[in-house]
Order: sequence, then structure tokens, then C-alpha cells
Amino acid sequence: MRKMTQMIVAGTLMLSVSGLALAADVVKERQDGFKENVTQLKAIKAGGESGDHGAVQAAAESVAAFAAKIPDLFPEGTGGGETRAKDEIWSDWQGFVAAAEANEQAALKLASAAESGVASDIAAAQKALGESCGACHDKYRLPKK
Ligand code: HEC
Repeated sequence: MRKMTQMIVAGTLMLSVSGLALAADVVKERQDGFKENVTQLKAIKAGGESGDHGAVQAAAESVAAFAAKIPDLFPEGTGGGETRAKDEIWSDWQGFVAAAEANEQAALKLASAAESGVASDIAAAQKALGESCGACHDKYRLPKK
């Protein structure tokens, strides 16, 4: 019986340690992804200024692809500590998913504006994309620690 209890305790410990390792991986993955988003926004700005619409389109598509993955990168229980994820992500999960979808749609709209090559459409879609990042941060991201 004693041995059994020890085994169960050991098993539970191992599970929670591997759970923590997974949580750390997913936090790093999403933070790296968001940093990459900043790089893509810079490429979008540069492409808009130089008239390189292909570059704008490619960068916007990459932001859209990341946006589609955002909800999966926030499994419950991966907030707190060093992360800037607010509890509201999980208490208002539908709102969070909607904010990720709005970001994806804004990026896709920019990609298609870039493909059509109308400068004023590109500029408007670029602004809307930036706003969709900010809208999610306002509600679901903690200020810098
Ligand atoms: C659906 C919500 C959502 C959207 C959309 C979103 N973000 Fe974030 N972002 C977050 C959250 C939440 C964090 C905090 C993540 C953490 O610390 O674990 C974050 C973190 C970041 C960080 C800090 C990463 C780091 O180094 O820790 C940057 C930079 C960032 N986002 C940029 C962007 C940009 C640029 C866009 C738009 C192209 C964007 N985000 C769209 C929710 C979002």
C-alpha cells in the first residue's frame, strides 16, 4: 500500500513537471510568434513605402497564419508568472477567440489589398491591422512588467 502511494505520488509529480515544461514551451512559442509579428509589421510598412506590394502581401499572409494559431497557443493555465496573459483570456474565451479572428481577417484583407495594388486600400487595411493587434492587447494583455 505504501509503495502504491509512493508510486502514485511520483507519477503525479512527473505529470505536473511535464505539464509545466509544456506550458513553458507554448508561452515561448507564442511570445516568439508575437515578436515575429512586429518584424512582419515592419516589412509591411517598408513594402508600403517602397511600393513592394508582393512583400506586403507575403508579410500580411504570415500575420494571418499566426493569428489562426493564437487560440491554440493559450491553453488554460498558461497565464501568470512572467507572462503578460491576462486572466480575462480564459474568463472571456469567446471574446479572445473573436479578437484573434478579427486580427486574422484584418491581415487577410491587407493581403488582398496588396494583391490588388490600390495604395489607399493598402494604407487603410494596414492601419486596421495594427488596430486589431491593439484591440486584443487592450483587453487581454497585461502592461510590461
Ligand atoms: C487575440 C489577442 C492578440 C492579438 C490579435 C495580438 N496579440 Fe500580441 N499579445 C497578446 C497577448 C495575450 C500577449 C502576452 C503573451 C504572453 O506574455 O504570454 C501578447 C504579446 C505580444 C508581444 C510581446 C511578446 C514578448 O516578447 O513577450 C508583442 C510584441 C505583440 N504581442 C505584438 C503583437 C502584434 C504586432 C500583433 C498584431 C499583428 C499582435 N500582437 C496581435 C495578445 C494578442
